Amino acid sequence: MTATVIDGKAFAAKVRAQVTEHVARLKADHGITPGLAVVLVGEDPASQVYVRSKGKQTVEAGMKSVEHKLSADTSEADLLQVVADLNADPTIHGILVQLPLPTHLNEDLVINAIDPAKDVDGFHISNVGLLATGQKSMVPCTPLGCLMLLRDHLGSLSGKDAVVIGRSNIVGKPMAQLLLGDSCTVTIAHSRTKDLPDVVRRADIVVAAVGRPQMVPGDWIKPGAMVVDVGINRIDAGVKEDGSPRTRLVGDVDFDSVAKVAGAVTPVPGGVGPMTIACLLANTLTACCRANGLEAPEGLTA
Ligand code: GUN
Repeated sequence: MTATVIDGKAFAAKVRAQVTEHVARLKADHGITPGLAVVLVGEDPASQVYVRSKGKQTVEAGMKSVEHKLSADTSEADLLQVVADLNADPTIHGILVQLPLPTHLNEDLVINAIDPAKDVDGFHISNVGLLATGQKSMVPCTPLGCLMLLRDHLGSLSGKDAVVIGRSNIVGKPMAQLLLGDSCTVTIAHSRTKDLPDVVRRADIVVAAVGRPQMVPGDWIKPGAMVVDVGINRIDAGVKEDGSPRTRLVGDVDFDSVAKVAGAVTPVPGGVGPMTIACLLANTLTACCRANGLEAPEGLTA
């Protein structure tokens, strides 16, 4: 069997087009422009790339984009003041504080200072609780993107066996909640799981979010299963002509062997990655609609 390779880039473009259309309608019908604020503390190069990309795509969708770039030695009090000002700003509907924060800052404290209605990352303890109890919440972007790809390819997920590998607050735990919400039988596997290959072999749906390059081989996969690869790992790939090291992006899944067994697999790059920012835009639109007493658009929320 050869797996269908899921085109996350094309699907993300479709989601962004839907968001753009709704934003234009919000403006025309209600005179409202959704606004997203991104707060970046320090100069982590990967975070800077993400933040630039978020800002560009926010503007392309017709939304207002605000960036707060703070120095690496910003005090907790100053950062909390920036968050408080954004909470009070009626033109801002979504607030994202880029993680990881420098180690002198308490991430939980900062995230929980964001107004839950503006928490487009879905990391605030209130949103975590709302999701866990099946209530309307803001849903973390990467798991939401995975859910959209799964529903698009499989239709109903009801009754399927799902294994999420990884138990992070950003991906693993919310992913498991979303799959449970769609009536899957869910297992969360992690570094202490016994017989991980056997656990994964039972799954109709595998979501790999561990951050270990090419950890999941094809012989762990049930024939026909759908495999969603959340990993983004840079590995050595020899040397360039000028002698400098060459690197390559790979996922948590060994793509070549998995593609021979799975029914569908998301590639890295071009799978889940582009969905994350598309879902951030969708969440900002959702937050803006709810802030104005309007229904959030169908299909862009969990
Ligand atoms: N760092 C890596 N992924 C994320 C994310 O989804 N949200 C935030 N705020 N920071 C991140």
